[in-house]
Amino acid sequence: MSRKLIAVVGATGAQGGGLVRAILADPSGGFAARALTRDPNGAKAKELAKLGAEVVAADVDDVGSLRKAFAGAHGAFCVTFFWDHFSPEKELAQARTMAEAAKDAGVKHVVWSTLEDTRQWVPLDDPRMPTLQGKYKVPHFDAKGEANAIFSGHGVPTTFLNTSFYWDNLIHFGMGPKKGPDGKLTFVLPMADRKLPGIAAEDIGRCAYGIFKRGPELIGKTVGIAGEHLNGAQMAAALSKALGQEVVHGDVPPEVYRTFGFPGADDLGNMFQFKRDFESYYCGARDLAFSRSLNPRLQTFAQWLGANKERIPLG
Ligand SMILES: NC(=O)c1ccc[n+]([C@@H]2O[C@H](COP(=O)([O-])OP(=O)(O)OC[C@H]3O[C@@H](n4cnc5c(N)ncnc54)[C@H](OP(=O)(O)O)[C@@H]3O)[C@@H](O)[C@H]2O)c1
Repeated sequence: MSRKLIAVVGATGAQGGGLVRAILADPSGGFAARALTRDPNGAKAKELAKLGAEVVAADVDDVGSLRKAFAGAHGAFCVTFFWDHFSPEKELAQARTMAEAAKDAGVKHVVWSTLEDTRQWVPLDDPRMPTLQGKYKVPHFDAKGEANAIFSGHGVPTTFLNTSFYWDNLIHFGMGPKKGPDGKLTFVLPMADRKLPGIAAEDIGRCAYGIFKRGPELIGKTVGIAGEHLNGAQMAAALSKALGQEVVHGDVPPEVYRTFGFPGADDLGNMFQFKRDFESYYCGARDLAFSRSLNPRLQTFAQWLGANKERIPLG
């Protein structure tokens, strides 16, 4: 029997890369991977080709290139890249392009990597958090959630995948422990004692693979994934154990976090406030047992730290 081809947007990145590697690691699983990249000659693309992926050129700003890249595919993994440009409008436009291309190519199953439109919980006139970029509360969430309707509106058979905070942000996003004024390593998480659903970025792609394997039963459904739900104190304790030195939880209020001044601090301050204030909904929407059923190799924070602790810069 021929294998079902999955076209993967963002294949040289964290989420898409995890999916390509998950497909290729399971040669008897019945799926094949097509890795989309703007640069098929780049080092990461060549690495995926070496593992057995078909590598094709595509740009999510160019519907023609996507139509070609989706042609003949059973499934497509769609993701946008907020932190490359900080523009929710661009994410919406790229989601539209991907939905159009998936429809034109007759793709049978799209997994859309999305997040909540927080304005459904905190309307724009709600003063609890500032409105950003004119019409968003959490710009990098809201446009993804708004874009869900674009996939449905195009009649694309879609699974809406609500992802979680990558623990890899401690390596790549400046969120690792830093020395505080008292000389102690401090892990800043502006969520008081509320739990943050987190996940190893690699596990998002592995869960997406689980969704493609389940197929029709998850089309039209919204699913959420996480590796563990931990509060700041629990994450600091796990960091202390893994690093062999004390790490304390730095609980600054979101109002203060928003003023930190790095690009996107206001967006992330609002995001953490949303996750803090709607903890019960937000954790409930990311069930751990369900995530593990999609991806039996799902890592806990301690397991992720065991493999990655040396990569966390300690400021
Ligand atoms: N950090 C977190 O905790 C977190 C949690 C949940 C969701 N997210 C969301 O995850 C998304 C990013 O996903 P990621 O982390 O997997 O991304 P990533 O690791 O930054 O990788 C993105 C890849 O996408 C490709 N790309 C960028 N622009 C493109 C374009 N115009 N056309 C085609 N490909 C393009 C690039 O590949 P080439 O250069 O090879 O083309 C790049 O390797 C963001 O929207 C973010 O909001 C992040």
